[in-house]
Amino acid sequence: MTKQLNAIPTANEKLVKWVQSWVELCKPDAVYWCDGSREEYDRLCNELVESGLAIRLNPAKRPNSLLFRSDPSDVARVEARTFIASKKQEDAGPTNNWIDPVELKKTMTALYDGCMKGRTMYVIPFSMGPVGSNIAKIGVEITDSAYVVINMEIMTRVGTKVLEVLGKDGEFVPCVHSVGKPLAPGESDHGIWPCAPMDKKYIAHFPETREIWSYGSGYGGNALLGKKCLALRIATVQARDEGWMAEHMLILKLTNPKGEVKYVTGAFPSACGKTNLAMLIPTIPGWKVETVGDDIAWMKFDDKGYLRAINPEAGFFGVAPGTSMKSNKNAMLSCAKDTIFTNVALTDDGDVWWEGIGYDAPDHLIDWKGNDWKPGMVDADGKPVKAAHPNARFTARACNCPAIAPEWEDPAGVPISAFLFGGRRPSTLPLIYQAKSWEHGVFIGSTVGSEVTAAALDVKAGTVRRDPFAMLPFCGYNMGDYFKHWLDIGKAGAAKGNLPKIFCVNWFRKNAEGKFMWPGFGDNSRVLAWVFDRCDNAGKYKDTPIGIMPTEDAIDLTGIEDEVSKADLAELLKVDVEGWKNELAMIKEHYKKFAGHLPVELTEQLEELEARLK
Ligand code: OXD
Ligand code: MN
Repeated sequence: MTKQLNAIPTANEKLVKWVQSWVELCKPDAVYWCDGSREEYDRLCNELVESGLAIRLNPAKRPNSLLFRSDPSDVARVEARTFIASKKQEDAGPTNNWIDPVELKKTMTALYDGCMKGRTMYVIPFSMGPVGSNIAKIGVEITDSAYVVINMEIMTRVGTKVLEVLGKDGEFVPCVHSVGKPLAPGESDHGIWPCAPMDKKYIAHFPETREIWSYGSGYGGNALLGKKCLALRIATVQARDEGWMAEHMLILKLTNPKGEVKYVTGAFPSACGKTNLAMLIPTIPGWKVETVGDDIAWMKFDDKGYLRAINPEAGFFGVAPGTSMKSNKNAMLSCAKDTIFTNVALTDDGDVWWEGIGYDAPDHLIDWKGNDWKPGMVDADGKPVKAAHPNARFTARACNCPAIAPEWEDPAGVPISAFLFGGRRPSTLPLIYQAKSWEHGVFIGSTVGSEVTAAALDVKAGTVRRDPFAMLPFCGYNMGDYFKHWLDIGKAGAAKGNLPKIFCVNWFRKNAEGKFMWPGFGDNSRVLAWVFDRCDNAGKYKDTPIGIMPTEDAIDLTGIEDEVSKADLAELLKVDVEGWKNELAMIKEHYKKFAGHLPVELTEQLEELEARLK
């Protein structure tokens, strides 16, 4: 018999029946409905510490913070085990893994049978977006991981108030999660992160029925189902059907020296500094950047035709390595307290350390695998042993970010003036250019990518891994149709004339010696200033074959003349015709895989660009 640990706090019959059906299948020892209170969060943290799964950090150094070490096999999103199980494979498209939904449900049902034995099933009612906002959506995640509960309580809005909005017959996205490690009677985890082997992990999405089933992983986007699974993969399908946008974008508020404000979103593939850009500290006087979101934006037209964006999340699940007071002071301050760290290193005085934190490691650490670590250690192959896993994370509350915009929780969202697209492109792509039209902007978004290094033998250096709209692993349907949705949004918005302007940025250009040509970080504000002006059709510009570009005196270099000479800037703002011809050939190759789903408007954009470059 499953023990009911607290009273069922909802009269929503569909929800109660749904939970009951999963209790019957997963057979947990107990069921607990989360209320999202601070008391509940603290209690679960204490239980996790007592069980040995978490370490409480020194309260004098990191108040209210925990450290977890995952299983070494469970350290990141598992794209190869992530599935879009639409009825037809064509609807998942060429960029997603697909399994027939009936077959996948059969396989996973067998795995779920009895998978929560010896554990508590937690029921987490959550809102993506401010509770009650007309852009927000409700989800309910059931999970057998208390680690997932406390992370969800930072990353989303959880509990009683969500159930109030859900009411008796409100709609929710059902999300099922299990770590896939049942316990025998009397058995415990013994402080070891529970998960299932790789071939038993499934991160499954059923777009037609808008369900999420996740099994076997306890980590990040595989397990915190509100984030990539709901707010992107399922939400893209809802957004297509309902005429709005669910995007892998940061949202920032930009204030100029006159006190005028614009909101800008940006889509960048993972590892391009999205969180850093969202929390940037401008180096040009009088400008201010505040953060609305660092990873996901949901946007809907208001009655004046402005796209209004909310950040559906309530926290940051940021990559720790490389984060320092220099690269991102606001992120460092966000995780100064009330934070869950996963797979970073532990210092002897109970604090955390990671590579790129901005100061040297002490003489001794416990690394992310729980082993003693000393600076300079090498493995059997002579490679440096990392103290923190490269994908180690901090889960921090957005309200603890000093740069959080006061309106970040405005249920109406913020009106967006500009979209930025960018990737890591050491060559060809200039520092910045503006799309000539919405369709041209969609063309730019559809070709986003980062250059891959020759780290793998089968990859040619200089090859670009295309990551359209930075959505490659996150689009819940055929990506060719998603391009069409972007074009449709343009048509819907064009009538009112308030569509955001679209820009392409590249902070990662390198010179012939392989050195970065642009300082990046806070100096990106110099580029944002031009974007701001262009939103009002101001700012000095020139028309070029690839798009609208700043004149060389339009980017303020005051204070960085030693780092970026006039000649460097000229190079950063040059149209590299030969490079672009090569780029066109690569884009043609990239477009081939969308076959009949590639909108004709994008082929036209490609042809027009080719003609302009002749
Ligand atoms: C993330 C990602 O974790 O994009 O946000 O991979
Ligand atoms: Mn992301």
